[in-house]
Amino acid sequence: MCGIVAYVGPRDAVPILTEGLARLEYRGYDSAGLAVIARSGDLKVRKAKVRVAELAAGLPARFKGRTGIGHTRWATHGEPSDVNAHPHVSGPIAVVHNGIIENADELRAKLEADGVVLTSQTDSEVLAHLIARSGADEPEDAVREALSQVVGTYGIAVMDTRHPDVLVVARNGSPVVLGIGEKEMFAASDVAALVRYTRQVVHLDDGELATVRADGFRTSTLDARATSKKPSVIETDEAAYDAEGYTHFMRKEIHEQPAAVERALGGRLDDRFHTAHLGGLNLDPREARGVRRVKILGCGSAYYAGQVGAQLIEELARIPADAEPASEFRYRNPVVEPDTLYIAVSQSGETYDTLVAVQELRRKGGRVLGVVNAVGSAIARECDGGVYLHAGPEIAVASTKAYTSTAVVFALLALHLGRIRDLSPADGRRIAAGLRALPGQITEILAQEDRIAALAADLATYRSMLFIGRVRGWPIAREGAQKLKEVSYVHAEAYPASELKHGPLALVSPELPTVAIVPDDELRDKNLSTLGEIRARQGRVVTIGHRDLGDDSLVVPKNEPELDPILLTIPLQLLAYHAAVALGHDVDKPRNLAKSVTVE
Ligand code: F6R
Repeated sequence: MCGIVAYVGPRDAVPILTEGLARLEYRGYDSAGLAVIARSGDLKVRKAKVRVAELAAGLPARFKGRTGIGHTRWATHGEPSDVNAHPHVSGPIAVVHNGIIENADELRAKLEADGVVLTSQTDSEVLAHLIARSGADEPEDAVREALSQVVGTYGIAVMDTRHPDVLVVARNGSPVVLGIGEKEMFAASDVAALVRYTRQVVHLDDGELATVRADGFRTSTLDARATSKKPSVIETDEAAYDAEGYTHFMRKEIHEQPAAVERALGGRLDDRFHTAHLGGLNLDPREARGVRRVKILGCGSAYYAGQVGAQLIEELARIPADAEPASEFRYRNPVVEPDTLYIAVSQSGETYDTLVAVQELRRKGGRVLGVVNAVGSAIARECDGGVYLHAGPEIAVASTKAYTSTAVVFALLALHLGRIRDLSPADGRRIAAGLRALPGQITEILAQEDRIAALAADLATYRSMLFIGRVRGWPIAREGAQKLKEVSYVHAEAYPASELKHGPLALVSPELPTVAIVPDDELRDKNLSTLGEIRARQGRVVTIGHRDLGDDSLVVPKNEPELDPILLTIPLQLLAYHAAVALGHDVDKPRNLAKSVTVE
């Protein structure tokens, strides 16, 4: 959510900033902006309500500088506009900011009372003025002084024309990572902006600030205590951040799923004891046997994948389990039980609601594991242990491969917990074999893409759709509806198939198609009666299941019933993607959304 990038070194900062911003654009694309300190010592700023490519194309040849900051915005305070775009400037100071300054109104009033004229509606602009008004000699101290007045979250990068060779960055709740180059330094909100230039990175912690010069950096806390940081190496290669010939990242990521699932499984299945080994869990068998309940927390698609996970854990490990949106959980006063295992799910590892839910749980003595994709991310670091997805970077705003890898990791966890408790070796073997079959079966589903694309183009002509499923099919229906809404903007509502006749059946008509999840499981007959009720009211039905049920049927290969949800989701991803393409939407950057919701 918003992207920041910064450079200090011997090269012209501009191409580095624009290239970095292009890589971060999936985090926000309402506006973009750059500021550099020119050789003359002047501050040059360009910002507008445009995408990064347009901003870069419009830069004059003489727009150059060796120190610079850039930003791509997802609007929180103040509409997307040229004036609200970052950087914000006050005298010699330029600032880019991710996050939300909660006491911005109060600070704004104080500044205005002192005669400062604020030009934007953003919360971020106050930072520039507060820093500029500090009497401190060193930029680091001026930033520290300003931040001491601020309540809220931030990842910031600051330049001061009086100190042209220095950048100051700081973090509280919004990620900042430093990239170490050869006599040059980078900073960004996401390693995606750095991989082209360096593999050596340093993640700042919350409440930390860094002064960065071309030849190195110094970190300290907000109250000026020096901290020591060890660089880590980015494992992912640069190509993972490129569309590599695909028209959209979403399609690329859908097609990467067989490989992503292989990686999620990689070395984790044990053929001797028919279980799964998950090294980072930090949960010994005695502790695992003592777990009385599992509570899974995540937001959006991560929550739906958590719902799949809860069902897997309850079915295979026979532990009562449920999932709840982390965004709701954090606002109530949940009973935190010592024998409940809490699991936080997050692709980015940064989602603020999930992070705060984890922090609250830990404060109350809860044990929290993470199921996270981004290695070393805030949520991963906050948890007591966990499992990484290893899905690789997910760039499209709509989650696909991370959702699937999360479900696979939950199947591994359920197998692991089940085999410690009362899952038989035969069932363990059955699930392990089913997991191994998934990559090949996903490939078979992807081979049906042309047919799914044709169906999607047809369905995209409707204004609204219903998605239904029973028990294991229910989270699939929710995820299918979510994907369609997100990228095609076609209204979609998910309902448990069993609940249809308790209300929404009234909506069914020839104008409202229903996508029904109908696996060949013990509930098939119940699902078929529901479909009968829809057809009797002239409702169009599209089925996703294991056999051709007439009308529009998409058939997926059969696996074990517990694992079928993983496969049944794949056609829904393709359906949403191709509906969006048919409608001509910006699939990877849907309106109003951004990847990684790092604000409340
Ligand atoms: C939907 C989607 C979002 C995310 C949600 C949580 O396609 O991508 O619903 O799943 O914002 O994000 P993470 O997993 O990064 O915590």
